Amino acid sequence: MTQVLAFVSAKGGVGKSTVAANIATALVQRKKNVLLIDLDPQNSQRFHLGMDPEEIAGLAREGIEPGSIFDSPYGVSFIPFGRVSESELQEFESQLKLNPRWVAESIRSLGENMFDYVILDTPPGPSVFLQQALLAAHRALVILLADAASFATIEKIQDLVTQYTAQRTEFKGAHFLINQMPINSKLGHQVRNAMSAHYGEHLVPASIHRDARVAQALAYERPVLQYEPGCKASLDLQYVTDWLLNSTD
Ligand SMILES: Nc1ncnc2c1ncn2[C@@H]1O[C@H](COP(=O)(O)OP(=O)(O)OP(=O)(O)O)[C@@H](O)[C@H]1O
Ligand SMILES: [Mg+2]
Repeated sequence: MTQVLAFVSAKGGVGKSTVAANIATALVQRKKNVLLIDLDPQNSQRFHLGMDPEEIAGLAREGIEPGSIFDSPYGVSFIPFGRVSESELQEFESQLKLNPRWVAESIRSLGENMFDYVILDTPPGPSVFLQQALLAAHRALVILLADAASFATIEKIQDLVTQYTAQRTEFKGAHFLINQMPINSKLGHQVRNAMSAHYGEHLVPASIHRDARVAQALAYERPVLQYEPGCKASLDLQYVTDWLLNSTD
């Protein structure tokens, strides 16, 4: 059965798109068929996957169907958000408001055999895109930083997740994943311990460390797993992918 994973956060810039692109790549390395859909009007996922920046096609214009799927250079099937004008964006958002299950239904229409995993990248905070993603997801990965500000936002994002998933028996739960964990930081570890005490098994058992190679990889428009497979962040991402496979397969 296709597993739909939504990458979400209350705060911006925590690393949703980076982690989503790399976990998608790591799943492909494990011979899974993976579709990544960029549900964020910033349309920036294409930089992580090395796609043509001039391309205007994507979700907003073509929707989710076989003809709108690009093959990325790293083996991840990909639907970018697409380049749209402000008025086209408003029109698209109004359509999504009218049918909150459009993404869920479109993914279902692809059929069960096309993809093992569909990964949804979302904008930060509440939005019609977050609503669509959570109504389609089997699991949510909440990306956090190990700092007090992120800790303070956990309840807000938990409320949103509950609001959109409460009635759905196919939703298996939210997992909290710490990204940009500073190496050897006492404060970072204290925050992680506090999160672990509060959220127990919902906290993913490994963090992704802060690593300069991640930002460098983005400058070269490729996943860090391809750019520097042996660096700390890449090893963390591989570990988290194995953990995810064990908990979803
Ligand atoms: N583990 C990491 N180590 C170092 N830098 C990182 C790490 N993860 C992400 N970054 C950097 O943080 C910045 C933000 O990452 P990204 O765009 O993935 O965040 P986002 O949550 O998707 O942002 P937005 O909320 O705007 O969609 C990028 O410059 C990225 O290279
Ligand atoms: Mg993003």
